[in-house]
Amino acid sequence: PAVEYGLDAPFDVEYHDAIPSTNARARDLAGEGTTDVVVLADEQTGGRGRLDREWHSPSGGIWLSVLFRPDVPMAGTPVFTLAAAVAATRAAREAGVEAVIKWPNDVLVEVDGEERKLVGILTEMEGEADRVSWVVVGIGVNANVDPDDIPAETAPTSLSAVRGEPVDRRRFTQRLLEAFDTVGSDPDAVLDSWRDYSTTLGRAVRIDTSQGTVTGEAVDIEYPGSLVVDTGEERVTVAAGDCDHLR
Ligand code: BTN
Repeated sequence: PAVEYGLDAPFDVEYHDAIPSTNARARDLAGEGTTDVVVLADEQTGGRGRLDREWHSPSGGIWLSVLFRPDVPMAGTPVFTLAAAVAATRAAREAGVEAVIKWPNDVLVEVDGEERKLVGILTEMEGEADRVSWVVVGIGVNANVDPDDIPAETAPTSLSAVRGEPVDRRRFTQRLLEAFDTVGSDPDAVLDSWRDYSTTLGRAVRIDTSQGTVTGEAVDIEYPGSLVVDTGEERVTVAAGDCDHLR
């Protein structure tokens, strides 16, 4: 294998040098009845992002998907996405990179005064409204990759670009999975850590939602992951949308 992970992770790990998409593989495993597994790849040839965008996944990154079967209703799943962002941010900070979270789950680093994307998260699930059957949390970390090899429109950066030297992918992934495992079982702890790491709270934001645009100050996050925005006239709770920081 390209990476000697040898992870001592709280999940079984299935490693691939190259695979179309770890999320697609994890969904297939879910269909076979598997659970508590991490699919990990050095390179993805068909990585997917949110809104069905391509997710460029060259060799050197950390592309992984966690498959598990939590006992929660469908509406409770956003907290797992927040937990992944918290875990990735914690692991990045331990690697010396001052990552922050933009609502809901983009992990960014400020480079030359600009926010650049370090980690993307894509959660997929299936099941009934009152109980999910499975959840796949896909986490893409631009670890040891050259940001110039990633399309510029995603405003990418990477751990190696920020640090000036490569990161130990085995150690980073180990810490990421441990943090996800601990934080993932305690929604209140997830929200508290999210608040600590957030760059969105306290800022002016514009959020495009399916019901229209909300503009105001982001004042808090609420279970299971909604942003509370003070528009000046009222407090609006936004469950999902595309968020821009205005200042
Ligand atoms: C985003 O658009 O920000 C989400 C990107 C998610 C990428 C990860 S990489 C591992 C997993 N497999 C995929 O195909 N996508 C996710």
